[in-house]
Amino acid sequence: MRIDIITCLPKLLESPFSDSILKRAQEKKLVEVAIHDLRAYSLDKHKSTDDYAFGGGAGMVMGIEPIHRCISFLQSERQYDEVIYLSPDGELLTQALANQLSLKKNFILLCGHYKGVDERVREHLITREVSIGDYVLSGGELAAAVVSDAMIRLIPGVLNDESSALTDSFQDGLVAPPVYTRPAEYNGWKVPDVLLSGHEAKINEWRHEESVKRTKERRPKLL
Ligand code: ADE
Repeated sequence: MRIDIITCLPKLLESPFSDSILKRAQEKKLVEVAIHDLRAYSLDKHKSTDDYAFGGGAGMVMGIEPIHRCISFLQSERQYDEVIYLSPDGELLTQALANQLSLKKNFILLCGHYKGVDERVREHLITREVSIGDYVLSGGELAAAVVSDAMIRLIPGVLNDESSALTDSFQDGLVAPPVYTRPAEYNGWKVPDVLLSGHEAKINEWRHEESVKRTKERRPKLL
């Protein structure tokens, strides 16, 4: 998988990709992540990427030219399966969408800012719009990191324990059951006996029941 992220704030995206699972996935060459500073594609002498909105009103709008130049440059280097614009009014990111996207290979993620991008970018240059939730962030960078993380951890070989992503919340339409580790008793608070029994079938049954119970309580719409 290759992910090219276009942003006017590249520094914001440094840390999510330079630690832990996302860092290891890149070291293992399972994913390549490239961050592109949109300002480098501006022809303006001040390297600006935004301008006032036609028709007036508060807030700046990201212009089409630097975005078009950047996307065209990237597309001259390779083919992309999706050009995704991160936007609060996009399709909501769910585990199902992350699963679907993780099967594709090359992505461009475009981070919005200010009042958003010139509508012609959305009409002509992008293939999909994704939101990470019904709230507004200051920009698309954190959303791009979330979408990337959700996709990258599903690539075979990225997680050490291959089965781990399969037992995540939402993968089977249920949230994950509770987990415990040593000590078996702390401060008088005990781990459920069944988990210490060594009886695999009973443990699996208990986990499933707990998942169903938790889903009913926390995400009843999933059932
Ligand atoms: N940009 C600003 N808010 C966002 C959100 N909730 N999801 C995706 N991109 C965004």
